[in-house]
Amino acid sequence: MSVKVAVVTGSNKGIGLAIVRALCKQYQGDVYLTSRDVGRGEEAVKSLSSEGLNPKFHQLDINDLSSITAAAAFFKEKYGGVDILINNAAILFKEGDTTPFAVQAEVTLKTNFFATRDMLTHFLPLIKVRVETRTLVINKCSKLLKSKCAKFTETKEEPKKSQSSTCCQTKKH
Ligand SMILES: NC(=O)c1ccc[n+]([C@@H]2O[C@H](COP(=O)([O-])OP(=O)(O)OC[C@H]3O[C@@H](n4cnc5c(N)ncnc54)[C@H](OP(=O)(O)O)[C@@H]3O)[C@@H](O)[C@H]2O)c1
Repeated sequence: MSVKVAVVTGSNKGIGLAIVRALCKQYQGDVYLTSRDVGRGEEAVKSLSSEGLNPKFHQLDINDLSSITAAAAFFKEKYGGVDILINNAAILFKEGDTTPFAVQAEVTLKTNFFATRDMLTHFLPLIKVRVETRTLVINKCSKLLKSKCAKFTETKEEPKKSQSSTCCQTKKH
């Protein structure tokens, strides 16, 4: 059987990094820490290596279509697809941020909706169907994207929500 692979976007820090750490400890397959900035990504890989973990790295800027298509081509070529995709990369303006609201709205929508939608456009066709396991796509930032995932899932299951802004779809055969 081919090697399984999990991909986490925006995982050089924060929740994404914690997800990679947890997957490295539990997942029976390759785990990819991805980051838009190679330096920050490699630093994060180094910090996990110092904990005895062994994530792999791939550059992935979800605002850059060529970066998305290059990553998608890589996973298709090396693994024949992807088993777990966690769309974690996002922008979150802190309360009290003085950036004008219109700018905050534009920047947030650009990454959290449109770029994540681009990820789904290019990665959903790569999601592998395995007889023995579920294939999993988690969108951390936008419930709006749930509909796009739902079109993809043939077996409609209730989304499992670990928090209000998370949607999760599985494909089961
Ligand atoms: N923290 C919370 O309380 C909370 C609550 C609800 C939902 N969430 C959601 O959970 C997710 C992670 O939150 P967090 O607190 O861990 O955020 P965070 O610490 O700000 O981390 C966000 C990550 O996304 C990356 N990123 C941003 N734009 C990107 C792009 N265009 N391409 C690739 N990566 C990009 C950042 O990379 P850089 O380091 O390069 O900026 C960083 O690695 C987000 O989707 C957030 O909306 C968080």
